[in-house]
Amino acid sequence: MNSNELRRHFLDFFESKGHKIVSSSSLLPTDPSVLFTTAGMQQFSLYLSGKKDVVADFGNRHLASCQKCFRTDDIEEIGDDTHHTFFEMLGNWSIGQDESGYFKEGAIDYALEFLESIGLDKSRMHITVFSGNEIIPKDEEAINLWKQRGITSIKECDQKDNFWGPVSETGPCGPCSEIHYDRGESFGCGRADCGPNCDYCKRYVEIWNLVFMQYFKNEAGEYELLKQTNIDTGIGFERLLSIIQEKNSAYETDLFSDVISKISNKEDEVSCRIIADHIRGIVFLVDAGIIPSNTGQGYILRRLIRRTIRYGKMLELQKDFWIPLVELTIDKYKDVYKEIERKETYEIIKKEEEKFSLTLDRGLKIINSIENDISGKEAFDIYQSYGFPLEMIKEELGKKNLSLDEKEFQEEIKKHQELSRAGAEKKFCGGSNPHLHTATHLLHSALRKVLGEGVQQMGSDINDERLRFDFSFERKLTPEEIKEVEDLINLKIKEGLISKKEVMPLDEALSSGALSFFKERYPEKVSVWTIYNKDSGEIFSKEICGGEHIDDISLLESFKIIKEESSSRGVRRIKAICQGKYTI
Ligand code: ALA
Repeated sequence: MNSNELRRHFLDFFESKGHKIVSSSSLLPTDPSVLFTTAGMQQFSLYLSGKKDVVADFGNRHLASCQKCFRTDDIEEIGDDTHHTFFEMLGNWSIGQDESGYFKEGAIDYALEFLESIGLDKSRMHITVFSGNEIIPKDEEAINLWKQRGITSIKECDQKDNFWGPVSETGPCGPCSEIHYDRGESFGCGRADCGPNCDYCKRYVEIWNLVFMQYFKNEAGEYELLKQTNIDTGIGFERLLSIIQEKNSAYETDLFSDVISKISNKEDEVSCRIIADHIRGIVFLVDAGIIPSNTGQGYILRRLIRRTIRYGKMLELQKDFWIPLVELTIDKYKDVYKEIERKETYEIIKKEEEKFSLTLDRGLKIINSIENDISGKEAFDIYQSYGFPLEMIKEELGKKNLSLDEKEFQEEIKKHQELSRAGAEKKFCGGSNPHLHTATHLLHSALRKVLGEGVQQMGSDINDERLRFDFSFERKLTPEEIKEVEDLINLKIKEGLISKKEVMPLDEALSSGALSFFKERYPEKVSVWTIYNKDSGEIFSKEICGGEHIDDISLLESFKIIKEESSSRGVRRIKAICQGKYTI
């Protein structure tokens, strides 16, 4: 089975068992406190906690998906057999109970049936289960179910390994059973105590995590029984693929083999893997609408591009070596994620490469002249002036057995981020032109009212002539929707709303319902602008914003959208003008 066949087979299997197949959500989660989507369950979290009705929204309590995920914590581990930045997670869910729902028994039976359907041997499956502790009992039910199905190797593990906790401090959680697959003696360390989670070898690979959500961790840290139990499962797609293709790692499967064989210099296998992983990561980050920058998600993209270029140089690959690699990567995924665009990826890499090469040689010269360990501040200056990612500075120093003070480096980064936050807040909000800036807030609010609260601001730019507003939305707006947005704003202009500014702590602003999609960029105290009807008190828009606004909305006179277009995948761009000019 190749990668496309395995992915398809998983989804077909669960569809044949009455599951609704749900498309992957974006790599950018709606929860702004998390950088990327890291698990299939993230898009269902409100359903798992019972805050939203899964049957009302999906027509089914049984769901399955293949989810795009991205993890950044192990970037330096990339190149070994198991780590990737971008990866896919297969999963199935049974959310809430009625007579049609399934829980532990159903989840275990489906898992075994599916794994046997792709040729895996039950006698090579080893299960880890939750051992229990002084607060939460051992998962006897799961142990019995596995035993009844002929599984003999069942290892009890503690909360750290076999209890899936809430992403935040409170939320649904529960014991999990992990299925580990024995790849055979040749992969082993030979120790007598070798088994799942072995510290010495990768003979046993965890392929499927079955989470039995049956508790709710409350504010007091207690585990209450959950009214609505759920099944949440996750398979690391790359791992499963390497097992069924009998390979050591996903880099040897059809997911990567074309890309790796295209890299002309293959002497350094780890560097080839890093390039292949990063090219795939770049393609999917660009697809999610991210552009390189010095903070947050944009910094991760910048880091991947610069690492790719750097490793390309190390392998002495020809200039533009990445073009065919991007091409092959997109070809590999284009039937699964149809929206991936080539042109945009090329343009972003090209631009970033140009920026990087300007500073790379100078930066390398500086690093090469260093003869002693350096302070965090010195490392930060190199990072800041030459755009060298931290781990590249570490790598270069490491070649000379030198090191840097990483703790101090992180402190410097923090200081720098705090300083730039206030600036970013202003910049993001426009600053430059108050009447169009106020119109931007009206537009943001009107779009959310007409198109739904999924609309989120992705960017804004204002010049003397027009405002430009980027927002998350999957498709082109219809002429009727554009008119509805314009009419709503013009109505508010006629009503003569007013705006007011209040300065308050960030958490107070957030709990007051003020919109903020860039929480991490705001300082502790923020300005909140509210646009409201002074007679009725009705609020039309409330946003955290450091820019300046006009207070009498009627000065805008009228509002018109002059262009609606795609900005990047999943992001639309509107340009608009106002008739009224504001003079200071
Ligand atoms: N949510 C579980 C995981 O990510 C299935 O492992």
